[in-house]
Amino acid sequence: MRRFDHEMISTEGDPHSVLVTGAAGFIGSSLVERLLAQGHFVIGVDNLSRGSRANLESALRNPRFRFFEEDLTNEHRYRALVSGFPIHTVWHMAANSDIGAGGADPKVDLRDTFQTTFNTLLVMRDTGIRRILFASSSAIYGVYDGVLSEESGPLFPISNYGAMKLASEALISAAVETFIERAWIFRFPNVIGPRATHGIIFDLLKKLQYNPPDLEVLGDGRQQKPYLHVSELIDAILFLSKRSSDPMNCFNIGPADEGVTVREIAETVQSIAAPSIPIRFTGGSKGWAGDVPRFQYSIARIKALGWSPRLSSAEAVRRAVAEVYNEFHSPAREALCSL
Ligand SMILES: NC(=O)c1ccc[n+]([C@@H]2O[C@H](COP(=O)([O-])OP(=O)(O)OC[C@H]3O[C@@H](n4cnc5c(N)ncnc54)[C@H](O)[C@@H]3O)[C@@H](O)[C@H]2O)c1
Repeated sequence: MRRFDHEMISTEGDPHSVLVTGAAGFIGSSLVERLLAQGHFVIGVDNLSRGSRANLESALRNPRFRFFEEDLTNEHRYRALVSGFPIHTVWHMAANSDIGAGGADPKVDLRDTFQTTFNTLLVMRDTGIRRILFASSSAIYGVYDGVLSEESGPLFPISNYGAMKLASEALISAAVETFIERAWIFRFPNVIGPRATHGIIFDLLKKLQYNPPDLEVLGDGRQQKPYLHVSELIDAILFLSKRSSDPMNCFNIGPADEGVTVREIAETVQSIAAPSIPIRFTGGSKGWAGDVPRFQYSIARIKALGWSPRLSSAEAVRRAVAEVYNEFHSPAREALCSL
Protein backbone atom coordinates (compact mmCIF):
# COMPACT_ATOMS: atom_id res chain seq x y z
CA MET A 1 0.00 0.00 0.00
CA ARG A 2 1.21 3.50 -0.82
CA ARG A 3 2.63 5.28 2.20
CA PHE A 4 0.59 8.13 3.66
CA ASP A 5 2.72 10.22 5.92
CA HIS A 6 0.70 11.29 8.99
CA GLU A 7 3.44 13.77 9.78
CA MET A 8 2.49 15.62 6.59
CA ILE A 9 -1.02 16.31 7.81
CA SER A 10 -1.69 19.70 9.32
CA THR A 11 -4.44 20.42 11.81
CA GLU A 12 -3.99 24.14 12.08
CA GLY A 13 -4.30 26.91 9.51
CA ASP A 14 -4.86 26.24 5.83
CA PRO A 15 -4.46 23.64 4.28
CA HIS A 16 -6.24 21.19 6.56
CA SER A 17 -6.78 17.48 6.75
CA VAL A 18 -10.37 16.81 5.70
CA LEU A 19 -12.65 13.79 5.51
CA VAL A 20 -14.93 13.44 2.48
CA THR A 21 -17.71 10.87 2.84
CA GLY A 22 -19.21 9.58 -0.40
CA ALA A 23 -15.81 10.36 -1.94
CA ALA A 24 -16.18 7.96 -4.86
CA GLY A 25 -19.55 9.34 -5.95
CA PHE A 26 -20.45 11.88 -8.60
CA ILE A 27 -20.13 15.05 -6.50
CA GLY A 28 -17.77 13.65 -3.85
CA SER A 29 -15.08 12.69 -6.37
CA SER A 30 -15.09 16.18 -7.94
CA LEU A 31 -14.91 17.70 -4.48
CA VAL A 32 -11.93 15.49 -3.58
CA GLU A 33 -10.03 16.71 -6.65
CA ARG A 34 -10.70 20.35 -5.86
CA LEU A 35 -9.72 19.98 -2.19
CA LEU A 36 -6.47 18.28 -3.26
CA ALA A 37 -5.83 21.10 -5.75
CA GLN A 38 -6.18 23.56 -2.86
CA GLY A 39 -3.44 21.70 -0.99
CA HIS A 40 -5.56 19.85 1.58
CA PHE A 41 -4.86 16.37 2.87
CA VAL A 42 -7.93 14.35 2.01
CA ILE A 43 -9.24 11.13 3.50
CA GLY A 44 -12.01 9.71 1.33
CA VAL A 45 -14.48 7.05 2.40
CA ASP A 46 -17.17 5.32 0.41
CA ASN A 47 -18.79 1.87 0.44
CA LEU A 48 -18.87 1.91 -3.39
CA SER A 49 -22.58 1.07 -3.40
CA ARG A 50 -23.10 3.76 -6.05
CA GLY A 51 -19.69 5.37 -6.50
CA SER A 52 -16.64 3.77 -8.10
CA ARG A 53 -12.87 3.75 -7.74
CA ALA A 54 -12.65 4.86 -11.37
CA ASN A 55 -14.03 8.25 -10.28
CA LEU A 56 -10.97 8.62 -8.05
CA GLU A 57 -8.42 7.62 -10.66
CA SER A 58 -6.46 10.88 -10.56
CA ALA A 59 -6.93 11.47 -6.81
CA LEU A 60 -5.50 8.02 -6.04
CA ARG A 61 -2.22 9.10 -7.64
CA ASN A 62 -1.93 12.05 -5.22
CA PRO A 63 0.21 11.40 -2.12
CA ARG A 64 -2.07 13.68 -0.10
CA PHE A 65 -5.08 11.36 -0.67
CA ARG A 66 -6.07 8.16 1.10
CA PHE A 67 -9.18 6.15 0.24
CA PHE A 68 -11.04 3.70 2.45
CA GLU A 69 -13.80 1.40 1.26
CA GLU A 70 -16.03 1.34 4.32
CA ASP A 71 -19.71 1.44 5.13
CA LEU A 72 -20.42 4.44 7.35
CA THR A 73 -23.29 2.64 9.01
CA ASN A 74 -20.67 0.50 10.75
CA GLU A 75 -19.98 2.78 13.70
CA HIS A 76 -17.08 0.75 15.05
CA ARG A 77 -15.13 0.76 11.77
CA TYR A 78 -16.00 4.41 11.11
CA ARG A 79 -14.64 5.43 14.50
CA ALA A 80 -11.46 3.39 14.00
CA LEU A 81 -10.87 5.01 10.61
CA VAL A 82 -11.40 8.58 11.82
CA SER A 83 -9.29 8.03 14.95
CA GLY A 84 -6.29 7.34 12.73
CA PHE A 85 -6.07 10.90 11.37
CA PRO A 86 -6.08 14.44 12.77
CA ILE A 87 -9.18 15.48 10.82
CA HIS A 88 -10.16 19.15 10.93
CA THR A 89 -13.37 19.17 8.83
CA VAL A 90 -15.89 16.67 7.49
CA TRP A 91 -17.55 17.12 4.09
CA HIS A 92 -20.49 14.73 4.42
CA MET A 93 -21.58 13.80 0.89
CA ALA A 94 -22.49 10.13 1.39
CA ALA A 95 -26.18 9.32 1.09
CA ASN A 96 -28.64 7.35 -0.91
CA SER A 97 -28.97 9.45 -4.06
CA ASP A 98 -31.76 7.42 -5.68
CA ILE A 99 -35.17 8.80 -4.61
CA GLY A 100 -36.99 5.91 -6.27
CA ALA A 101 -34.94 3.29 -4.41
CA GLY A 102 -35.87 4.96 -1.12
CA GLY A 103 -39.55 4.85 -2.09
CA ALA A 104 -39.37 1.13 -2.85
CA ASP A 105 -37.50 0.37 0.39
CA PRO A 106 -37.68 3.07 3.11
CA LYS A 107 -34.74 1.47 4.94
CA VAL A 108 -32.41 2.71 2.19
CA ASP A 109 -32.70 6.40 3.17
CA LEU A 110 -32.82 5.59 6.87
CA ARG A 111 -29.52 3.73 6.52
CA ASP A 112 -27.51 5.58 3.88
CA THR A 113 -28.71 9.13 4.56
CA PHE A 114 -29.84 9.38 8.19
CA GLN A 115 -27.65 6.77 9.85
CA THR A 116 -24.53 7.88 7.99
CA THR A 117 -25.19 11.42 9.29
CA PHE A 118 -25.89 10.16 12.81
CA ASN A 119 -22.66 8.13 12.85
CA THR A 120 -20.68 11.00 11.34
CA LEU A 121 -21.79 13.28 14.18
CA LEU A 122 -21.14 10.56 16.75
CA VAL A 123 -17.53 10.01 15.66
CA MET A 124 -17.00 13.76 15.27
CA ARG A 125 -18.14 14.32 18.85
CA ASP A 126 -15.96 11.54 20.19
CA THR A 127 -12.85 12.53 18.24
CA GLY A 128 -13.15 16.31 18.64
CA ILE A 129 -13.91 17.28 15.02
CA ARG A 130 -15.80 20.57 15.10
CA ARG A 131 -16.77 21.41 11.50
CA ILE A 132 -19.20 19.74 9.13
CA LEU A 133 -20.41 20.64 5.64
CA PHE A 134 -23.50 18.71 4.61
CA ALA A 135 -25.00 17.96 1.20
CA SER A 136 -28.70 18.57 1.66
CA SER A 137 -31.29 18.93 -1.05
CA SER A 138 -34.20 20.91 -2.47
CA ALA A 139 -36.21 17.75 -1.64
CA ILE A 140 -36.53 18.91 1.99
CA TYR A 141 -39.02 21.60 0.87
CA GLY A 142 -41.54 19.22 -0.70
CA VAL A 143 -44.13 20.69 -3.05
CA TYR A 144 -44.15 24.45 -2.64
CA ASP A 145 -45.97 27.14 -4.56
CA GLY A 146 -43.56 30.00 -5.14
CA VAL A 147 -39.87 30.77 -5.02
CA LEU A 148 -38.01 28.76 -2.37
CA SER A 149 -35.85 30.71 0.04
CA GLU A 150 -34.01 29.20 3.00
CA GLU A 151 -36.88 30.42 5.23
CA SER A 152 -39.65 28.79 3.18
CA GLY A 153 -41.90 26.41 5.04
CA PRO A 154 -43.56 24.48 6.48
CA LEU A 155 -41.15 21.77 5.40
CA PHE A 156 -43.15 18.75 4.31
CA PRO A 157 -40.96 16.55 2.06
CA ILE A 158 -42.78 14.10 -0.22
CA SER A 159 -40.04 11.45 -0.40
CA ASN A 160 -38.18 9.37 2.16
CA TYR A 161 -35.06 10.83 0.59
CA GLY A 162 -36.21 14.37 1.44
CA ALA A 163 -37.44 13.31 4.87
CA MET A 164 -34.09 11.78 5.84
CA LYS A 165 -32.20 14.83 4.49
CA LEU A 166 -34.42 17.09 6.61
CA ALA A 167 -33.94 14.84 9.65
CA SER A 168 -30.17 14.98 9.03
CA GLU A 169 -30.29 18.78 8.96
CA ALA A 170 -32.12 18.67 12.30
CA LEU A 171 -29.45 16.39 13.81
CA ILE A 172 -26.71 18.76 12.68
CA SER A 173 -28.59 21.73 14.12
CA ALA A 174 -28.85 19.97 17.48
CA ALA A 175 -25.13 19.12 17.40
CA VAL A 176 -24.31 22.82 16.88
CA GLU A 177 -25.90 23.44 20.27
CA THR A 178 -23.38 21.15 21.94
CA PHE A 179 -20.11 20.19 20.23
CA ILE A 180 -20.11 21.41 16.59
CA GLU A 181 -18.39 24.76 16.26
CA ARG A 182 -19.58 25.47 12.71
CA ALA A 183 -21.93 23.71 10.29
CA TRP A 184 -22.91 24.37 6.70
CA ILE A 185 -26.15 23.02 5.23
CA PHE A 186 -26.05 23.19 1.43
CA ARG A 187 -29.40 22.63 -0.26
CA PHE A 188 -28.36 21.44 -3.71
CA PRO A 189 -30.69 21.68 -6.73
CA ASN A 190 -30.37 19.08 -9.52
CA VAL A 191 -26.66 18.72 -10.09
CA ILE A 192 -25.38 17.50 -13.46
CA GLY A 193 -22.08 16.86 -15.18
CA PRO A 194 -19.40 14.23 -15.71
CA ARG A 195 -19.25 11.07 -13.55
CA ALA A 196 -23.00 11.22 -12.91
CA THR A 197 -24.20 8.05 -11.22
CA HIS A 198 -27.89 8.92 -11.57
CA GLY A 199 -30.26 11.67 -12.69
CA ILE A 200 -32.24 12.42 -15.82
CA ILE A 201 -29.30 12.87 -18.25
CA PHE A 202 -27.63 9.66 -17.05
CA ASP A 203 -30.93 7.75 -17.18
CA LEU A 204 -31.87 8.90 -20.70
CA LEU A 205 -28.44 8.14 -22.12
CA LYS A 206 -28.46 4.76 -20.39
CA LYS A 207 -31.82 3.92 -21.97
CA LEU A 208 -30.36 4.74 -25.39
CA GLN A 209 -27.59 2.16 -24.85
CA TYR A 210 -30.14 -0.56 -25.59
CA ASN A 211 -31.19 0.82 -29.00
CA PRO A 212 -34.87 1.27 -28.06
CA PRO A 213 -37.51 2.12 -30.71
CA ASP A 214 -38.13 5.39 -28.82
CA LEU A 215 -36.71 7.41 -25.94
CA GLU A 216 -38.99 6.91 -22.93
CA VAL A 217 -39.27 9.98 -20.69
CA LEU A 218 -41.06 9.72 -17.32
CA GLY A 219 -43.96 12.17 -16.88
CA ASP A 220 -45.45 14.62 -19.34
CA GLY A 221 -42.21 16.55 -19.94
CA ARG A 222 -43.52 19.71 -18.29
CA GLN A 223 -41.66 19.21 -15.00
CA GLN A 224 -39.41 22.25 -14.64
CA LYS A 225 -36.42 22.50 -12.28
CA PRO A 226 -33.14 24.37 -11.86
CA TYR A 227 -29.98 22.52 -12.96
CA LEU A 228 -26.46 23.37 -11.83
CA HIS A 229 -23.24 22.04 -13.33
CA VAL A 230 -21.14 20.12 -10.81
CA SER A 231 -18.12 22.38 -11.40
CA GLU A 232 -20.18 25.40 -10.34
CA LEU A 233 -21.62 23.54 -7.36
CA ILE A 234 -18.09 22.81 -6.11
CA ASP A 235 -17.14 26.47 -6.69
CA ALA A 236 -20.12 27.52 -4.58
CA ILE A 237 -19.56 25.20 -1.63
CA LEU A 238 -15.83 25.94 -1.46
CA PHE A 239 -16.67 29.65 -1.59
CA LEU A 240 -19.23 29.31 1.20
CA SER A 241 -16.85 27.27 3.36
CA LYS A 242 -14.63 30.35 3.50
CA ARG A 243 -17.16 33.17 3.46
CA SER A 244 -19.89 32.18 5.89
CA SER A 245 -18.98 32.05 9.53
CA ASP A 246 -22.08 31.68 11.71
CA PRO A 247 -22.32 28.54 13.85
CA MET A 248 -25.13 27.32 11.56
CA ASN A 249 -24.97 28.33 7.88
CA CYS A 250 -27.75 27.29 5.50
CA PHE A 251 -27.81 28.02 1.76
CA ASN A 252 -29.80 27.24 -1.33
CA ILE A 253 -27.37 26.75 -4.20
CA GLY A 254 -28.55 26.90 -7.80
CA PRO A 255 -28.60 28.71 -11.11
CA ALA A 256 -30.11 32.17 -11.36
CA ASP A 257 -33.07 31.16 -13.53
CA GLU A 258 -36.36 29.32 -13.46
CA GLY A 259 -34.86 26.08 -14.72
CA VAL A 260 -35.57 24.01 -17.79
CA THR A 261 -38.28 21.52 -18.58
CA VAL A 262 -37.82 17.79 -18.84
CA ARG A 263 -38.94 18.09 -22.46
CA GLU A 264 -36.03 20.46 -23.18
CA ILE A 265 -33.57 18.06 -21.55
CA ALA A 266 -34.94 15.10 -23.52
CA GLU A 267 -34.66 17.09 -26.75
CA THR A 268 -31.05 18.03 -25.94
CA VAL A 269 -30.22 14.36 -25.29
CA GLN A 270 -32.01 13.37 -28.49
CA SER A 271 -30.17 15.96 -30.60
CA ILE A 272 -26.74 14.91 -29.31
CA ALA A 273 -27.18 11.17 -28.91
CA ALA A 274 -29.97 9.90 -31.12
CA PRO A 275 -31.49 12.40 -33.58
CA SER A 276 -33.51 9.71 -35.36
CA ILE A 277 -35.17 8.25 -32.23
CA PRO A 278 -38.53 9.77 -31.26
CA ILE A 279 -39.30 10.87 -27.70
CA ARG A 280 -42.21 9.22 -25.85
CA PHE A 281 -43.59 10.71 -22.63
CA THR A 282 -45.19 8.28 -20.18
CA GLY A 283 -47.62 11.02 -19.02
CA GLY A 284 -48.67 12.44 -15.68
CA SER A 285 -47.34 15.52 -13.92
CA LYS A 286 -44.65 13.60 -11.97
CA GLY A 287 -41.89 11.31 -13.16
CA TRP A 288 -42.15 9.00 -10.13
CA ALA A 289 -43.51 8.91 -6.57
CA GLY A 290 -41.58 11.54 -4.63
CA ASP A 291 -40.75 13.63 -7.70
CA VAL A 292 -41.34 17.35 -7.05
CA PRO A 293 -42.41 18.37 -10.55
CA ARG A 294 -41.61 22.09 -10.30
CA PHE A 295 -39.57 24.27 -8.07
CA GLN A 296 -37.73 27.53 -8.23
CA TYR A 297 -34.91 28.65 -5.98
CA SER A 298 -34.03 32.02 -4.56
CA ILE A 299 -30.24 32.20 -4.36
CA ALA A 300 -30.29 35.73 -2.92
CA ARG A 301 -28.42 34.64 0.23
CA ILE A 302 -25.37 33.22 -1.54
CA LYS A 303 -25.41 36.07 -4.07
CA ALA A 304 -25.32 38.61 -1.23
CA LEU A 305 -22.00 37.04 -0.16
CA GLY A 306 -20.60 37.51 -3.66
CA TRP A 307 -21.10 34.20 -5.51
CA SER A 308 -23.15 33.93 -8.70
CA PRO A 309 -23.40 31.06 -11.17
CA ARG A 310 -22.02 31.61 -14.67
CA LEU A 311 -24.11 29.02 -16.51
CA SER A 312 -27.86 29.04 -16.97
CA SER A 313 -29.77 25.79 -16.42
CA ALA A 314 -30.02 25.32 -20.21
CA GLU A 315 -26.28 25.89 -20.71
CA ALA A 316 -25.45 23.49 -17.88
CA VAL A 317 -27.74 20.86 -19.44
CA ARG A 318 -26.14 21.19 -22.90
CA ARG A 319 -22.66 20.91 -21.42
CA ALA A 320 -23.55 17.97 -19.16
CA VAL A 321 -25.31 16.01 -21.93
CA ALA A 322 -22.20 16.28 -24.12
CA GLU A 323 -19.92 15.29 -21.21
CA VAL A 324 -21.96 12.31 -20.07
CA TYR A 325 -22.49 11.21 -23.69
CA ASN A 326 -18.71 11.22 -24.23
CA GLU A 327 -18.22 9.22 -21.03
CA PHE A 328 -20.76 6.64 -22.16
CA HIS A 329 -18.70 6.20 -25.32
CA SER A 330 -15.36 5.96 -23.58
CA PRO A 331 -14.03 2.44 -22.96
CA ALA A 332 -13.69 3.08 -19.21
CA ARG A 333 -17.40 3.80 -18.87
CA GLU A 334 -18.59 0.81 -20.87
CA ALA A 335 -18.55 -1.43 -17.82
CA LEU A 336 -20.68 1.03 -15.84
CA CYS A 337 -23.17 1.49 -18.65
CA SER A 338 -23.78 -2.23 -18.83
CA LEU A 339 -24.83 -2.40 -15.15
N1 LIG B 1 -26.73 14.92 -7.64
C1 LIG B 1 -27.74 15.71 -7.27
O1 LIG B 1 -28.49 16.22 -8.10
C2 LIG B 1 -27.97 15.99 -5.81
C3 LIG B 1 -29.01 16.87 -5.45
C4 LIG B 1 -29.23 17.14 -4.11
C5 LIG B 1 -28.43 16.57 -3.14
N2 LIG B 1 -27.44 15.70 -3.51
C6 LIG B 1 -26.64 15.09 -2.45
O2 LIG B 1 -25.27 15.24 -2.75
C7 LIG B 1 -24.54 14.12 -2.22
C8 LIG B 1 -23.72 13.48 -3.33
O3 LIG B 1 -24.64 13.01 -4.32
P1 LIG B 1 -24.19 12.40 -5.70
O4 LIG B 1 -25.10 12.93 -6.72
O5 LIG B 1 -22.73 12.53 -5.87
O6 LIG B 1 -24.60 10.88 -5.47
P2 LIG B 1 -23.69 9.56 -5.53
O7 LIG B 1 -24.61 8.43 -5.30
O8 LIG B 1 -22.88 9.56 -6.77
O9 LIG B 1 -22.72 9.76 -4.28
C9 LIG B 1 -23.05 9.32 -2.97
C10 LIG B 1 -21.94 8.37 -2.53
O10 LIG B 1 -22.22 7.92 -1.18
C11 LIG B 1 -21.84 6.55 -1.11
N3 LIG B 1 -22.58 5.93 0.00
C12 LIG B 1 -23.91 5.76 0.10
N4 LIG B 1 -24.22 5.12 1.24
C13 LIG B 1 -23.03 4.91 1.90
C14 LIG B 1 -22.68 4.29 3.13
N5 LIG B 1 -23.63 3.72 3.92
N6 LIG B 1 -21.37 4.24 3.48
C15 LIG B 1 -20.42 4.77 2.68
N7 LIG B 1 -20.69 5.36 1.49
C16 LIG B 1 -21.99 5.43 1.11
C17 LIG B 1 -22.21 5.98 -2.47
O11 LIG B 1 -21.48 4.80 -2.79
C18 LIG B 1 -21.87 7.13 -3.41
O12 LIG B 1 -20.55 7.01 -3.93
C19 LIG B 1 -25.58 13.17 -1.64
O13 LIG B 1 -25.69 13.43 -0.25
C20 LIG B 1 -26.85 13.59 -2.33
O14 LIG B 1 -28.01 13.28 -1.60
C21 LIG B 1 -27.20 15.40 -4.81
